[in-house]
Amino acid sequence: PDALFGDRKNSTGFDLTERDALATIDAARAPFKAARFEARPLIAGTAQPLPVVEALNPSNGDVIGQVFNASSADVETALANAQPWAASETERAEVLNRAAELYEAHYGEIFAALAREAGKIQIDAVAELREAVDFLHYYAHNIPQNAQARGLFTCISPWNFPLAIFTGQVAAALATGNAVLAKPAEQTPIIATLAVQLLHEAGVPREALQLLPGDGATVGARLTSDARINGVAFTGSTETAKIIRRAMADNMDPGAPLIAETGGLNAMIVDSTALPEQAVRDILVSAFQSAGQRCSALRCLYVQDDIAPTIQEMLFGAMDELLVDNPWDLTTDIGPVIDDEAAGIIRDHVATARAQGRVLKEISAPQQGHFCAPVAIRVNGIEDMKREIFGPVLHIATFKSEDLHKVIDAVNATGYGLTFGLHTRIDNRVQEVTESIHCGNIYVNRNQVGAVVGSQPFGGEGLSGTGPKAGGPEYLWRFTTSAPSDKPQ
Ligand code: NAD
Ligand code: ALA
Repeated sequence: PDALFGDRKNSTGFDLTERDALATIDAARAPFKAARFEARPLIAGTAQPLPVVEALNPSNGDVIGQVFNASSADVETALANAQPWAASETERAEVLNRAAELYEAHYGEIFAALAREAGKIQIDAVAELREAVDFLHYYAHNIPQNAQARGLFTCISPWNFPLAIFTGQVAAALATGNAVLAKPAEQTPIIATLAVQLLHEAGVPREALQLLPGDGATVGARLTSDARINGVAFTGSTETAKIIRRAMADNMDPGAPLIAETGGLNAMIVDSTALPEQAVRDILVSAFQSAGQRCSALRCLYVQDDIAPTIQEMLFGAMDELLVDNPWDLTTDIGPVIDDEAAGIIRDHVATARAQGRVLKEISAPQQGHFCAPVAIRVNGIEDMKREIFGPVLHIATFKSEDLHKVIDAVNATGYGLTFGLHTRIDNRVQEVTESIHCGNIYVNRNQVGAVVGSQPFGGEGLSGTGPKAGGPEYLWRFTTSAPSDKPQ
């Protein structure tokens, strides 16, 4: 236990193998199954949002609610009225811990919104709420003492973790006493609105946390190019991070940090000593869970040639068992991808591979909505992949034992460095490979997604991010003008 901030444990969430837990979740979600949701600017002042637009369910195109995006007047009001959170460290910690309790208490509404706005299956929704709660408690517990807030932070988040990443960025900036202007992804403003309402209810002042839903090119661009802003926390694509870096350089104080967590071209190596059943289970989770819409997801699998037929046969058999369907249904394994544009990119990529005779395995998916079926595509190596394909698409290459170092060099040559997986039973190989791969998070003999806050700090290097890692001991310091070396001994 910590004298100032108390004890901390990660959230236990729900055990979805328990029939009672499923019934409890179903009952708690039921009132929100057909409810109309709303997203709107939550600012310190009177909002004058843009005309309403409809929010659509990615599974079936149903209207789930309405979105009022922030106008340029709202952005100006928020910038003018933002005020760093002046409360003591203990008070901030108490409020963030209270927010975590409110998140957990509202699980029915949150699970419903995650399914209906973001297309999350239940297992992903449970993991997402747990991660958000863990971020709140972890940052509350680890507030650097006597560190100076930078002032005003912009937090820009993606749609694929609309609660967890949104909350993690905001909680870190608030824990350290900054004011926050939060811009959620345009695909998931409803979940962000729920989160900010709960943070305000917990006691975060309105001047310290303002929500500005809207497009990246307008609201996002404005919030990353104003001299009054003292730092930006961004999670999203590498391309957008570069745009933001340029905007900040042109408009902000040169000392304003960009904390960017970006894309990946993640690989896994399975050598011939791996346990096939374990490897196949971990490949399935790494490549296809969350419909492959995790920055950490496995994109390119390298299997040693003599074990490749066994692994592929088992993997393709397992793929046949996956159920691609409505995420609200508790038996669904793979939900939809986020929108039409995302589905189009994935379908075009698969169509090209199909035309070239490189599709090894694909299964069926519902025709309505934005569903993309899991697919395996043959490649020569990761160098064949020109960009991150953000969906349930696994690329498979084989390698010979003597070419292991060429594989490692090819993975490093992508310039990305987010996650990497290794399956082997040779101890020396674990050391050899993990020491040579340039990656933020390396996983051995397990899947490569779902980093746990406080235990597995998460973040990449190179094109995958700036660091410091989220959910780790260095992260909060970047939101202050102090450094970990200033920590009182
Ligand atoms: P994106 O870059 O398109 O959008 C992310 C956010 O940036 C959104 O809120 C968007 O509105 C905003 N934005 C877009 N243009 C902007 C601009 N010019 N100025 C300011 N803001 C702007 O990414 P996405 O499609 O929402 O998310 C998927 C990407 O995120 C993938 O590349 C994935 O790998 C990455 N991601 C990385 C991590 C990580 O921790 N490394 C986690 C999740 C997602
Ligand atoms: N932190 C998320 C994961 O590890 C992105 O999958």
